[in-house]
Amino acid sequence: MAFDVERVLAGLTLEEKASLTSGADFWHTKAVGDVPAIMVSDGPHGLRKQPDDVDHLGLGGSVPATCFPTAAALGSSWDPALLRRVGEALGRETRANDVAVLLGPGVNIKRTPLCGRNFEYVSEDPFVAGRLAAAVVEGIQSQGVGTSLKHFAANNQETDRMRVSADVDERTLREIYLPAFEHVVTTVQPWTVMCAYNKLNGTYASQHEWLLTTVLRDEWGFEGLVVSDWGAVHDRVAALAAGLDLQMPSAGTRPDEQVVAAVRAGELPEEVLDQAVRRVLALVARSPQEPVDGFDVDAHHALAREAAAAGAVLLKNDEVDGAPLLPLGGTDGVLVVGEFARTPRYQGAGSSQVNPTRLDTALDSLGDVAFEPGFTIAGGPDGDDEALRHTAVEAARGAGTVVAFLGLPGPDESEGYDRPRLGLPDNQVAALAAVAAVNPRVVVVLANGSAVSLSDWRDHAPAILETWLGGQAGGSAVVDLLLGRVAPAGKLTETIPHRIEDTPAFGNFPGEQGHVRYGEGVLVGYRWYDARHDDVAYPFGHGLSYTSFAYSDVTAAVSGAGADARVDVAVTVTNTGTRAGAEVVQVYVGDPVAQVQRPVRELKGFAKVALEPGSSTEVRISLDARALAYWHPKLSRWVVEGGDFVIDVAASSRDVRGSVTVAVDGEPTYGEIDEMSTIGEWLAHPVGREVLQPLLVLPEGMPPLDDTMEAMMLDMPARTLIDFGIAPVTYEELDALVARVAAG
Ligand code: BGC
Repeated sequence: MAFDVERVLAGLTLEEKASLTSGADFWHTKAVGDVPAIMVSDGPHGLRKQPDDVDHLGLGGSVPATCFPTAAALGSSWDPALLRRVGEALGRETRANDVAVLLGPGVNIKRTPLCGRNFEYVSEDPFVAGRLAAAVVEGIQSQGVGTSLKHFAANNQETDRMRVSADVDERTLREIYLPAFEHVVTTVQPWTVMCAYNKLNGTYASQHEWLLTTVLRDEWGFEGLVVSDWGAVHDRVAALAAGLDLQMPSAGTRPDEQVVAAVRAGELPEEVLDQAVRRVLALVARSPQEPVDGFDVDAHHALAREAAAAGAVLLKNDEVDGAPLLPLGGTDGVLVVGEFARTPRYQGAGSSQVNPTRLDTALDSLGDVAFEPGFTIAGGPDGDDEALRHTAVEAARGAGTVVAFLGLPGPDESEGYDRPRLGLPDNQVAALAAVAAVNPRVVVVLANGSAVSLSDWRDHAPAILETWLGGQAGGSAVVDLLLGRVAPAGKLTETIPHRIEDTPAFGNFPGEQGHVRYGEGVLVGYRWYDARHDDVAYPFGHGLSYTSFAYSDVTAAVSGAGADARVDVAVTVTNTGTRAGAEVVQVYVGDPVAQVQRPVRELKGFAKVALEPGSSTEVRISLDARALAYWHPKLSRWVVEGGDFVIDVAASSRDVRGSVTVAVDGEPTYGEIDEMSTIGEWLAHPVGREVLQPLLVLPEGMPPLDDTMEAMMLDMPARTLIDFGIAPVTYEELDALVARVAAG
């Protein structure tokens, strides 16, 4: 709806302006004068357009829409081109339903596998999360509708999400929790960003000026509108001052009146309110005037099927009777066990629940096969499960191959609370063990929105296919994979640990007394397991195919230095198997010696390549300075510290196929020098060294320092040398030296 934003703004009363910074109802902005209301809807993996306000978190009432695979599955495809196409389809459905903004995608980091909402998020790693989310945003917005990148920021758990303070140091925020947002904002400018419910370091995200203004707008150049998460604003005046533009949903007239009063009292500058209103009007102005005419339900279902297959990860495919168990030769002799084959889990609970246009089940898609439920999803009274298990075992005795559909019961994974357990329910594990005891040819197909522990039962299954929550076509997609019509090519974007006790946030999750301390710092996901050399069930980046790939000729060439440094990486990948497939090549960077503790390796590049059997291709991946940099806590900026960097070209974070060490010229990393700077810090500073070195002469008669003494000395603040009476300078002279260093 094109109109002149400034002209409309100039004609508004203070009351009208205040009222425009909150919604009219659950899903609409307010209309004023000739300016219409626009509608927003969830998000993220399908449109959840509710015709009225009721039933906020339920399924009822939302219009039919394609339920694409959840972000957990989409992410595992590592395929930005595919995600862009999914985005285009989402945008088309949004547009066809006269909705202006689709509320997604979510790019919060999977800090713990227990976060109830992990299925809506892409990864434990910010690099892959940002790249893939940018593709979705680009696709949606290419249809002339907007997105809402959420939940900004540090919303990494559901427990106490409306109040808890995520206590995170700045380096960890900059390196782990913000970069996915940063990448999407700086490369594709989502129309809106949605603030999180939680507090960050004691301040509600909705009122966090550093987050919403300093970082998002001043540093990243965000041009769109900041909308609150639904009900995340507790003080609209403070929120507007911090940089929030629109409170959703409607919270009645009181907050509007408070804004008017604050402006009249001089507590909130009217320009701040004007700026928020300008952004609300600009959002309305760029929104489509008319819906487009429908969407191709069949084509979108087919795309959902393609995406679900691309996002499944083949964790294991051992040989049985001399050949890998998958793909199946056909359906003859196949016994399907598991209620999920007939009653699929394909999306999570909460605001993202879509009313699908149709629903494929694996059982129907397999055609004429024998089926035994084997267990109840809800875990019925013992007797029921026992009887189901018994019948399944009898059927399994004579079966050629058993395909067992296991997964998490729906209530385990939802917005609003976290998962009660890492493992599968006992009744499912018992059914699997019993079936495997009579038939060694068992394929497990998993349906869950985030990692489940499988260490206790994986020996029972030679093949395991992780399908996540694969959307409405997940059932047919899994059959495409089982029968080999499609070759698996997904890889994990989250580590599968053995036990919850092994996970990075264990002990610091979900927090207590209103605070959750991110004590593991930057060591999130694989960064944690690698730092500790911990064994995991399946590492980040892992995923098998029905073919195999060889990596050769790994090279890495440096050009430029410091903030202009760049590393060009190349590798040749060859399909060494007998059928076509695709491989996700990953590039990790390590900086073994630095002033801060750096992860062993961090993902900084990837590419997915499709190859015919026997064919090769050269993959080139360029790393910019940011790929080498860390956030310097004292300098408050990114620095590339000079020295050797290890460039790993890998098939997973634990399957490095080629490693090159390159030397990079860094930039200065010394900070300000004062009297409490250590001797080591003085000596690392060019001017500090020049002025202090001549004074570091040992008193006459003192024996030369041995290594231990020297190390101790280097770590002592300059001032304490005087306090100990061992420096040949006075306090005044030291002050003068500090001034000389400051003068440069
Ligand atoms: C969720 C958001 C969602 C909003 C609107 C909130 O509870 O956290 O992700 O977009 O509701 O349904």
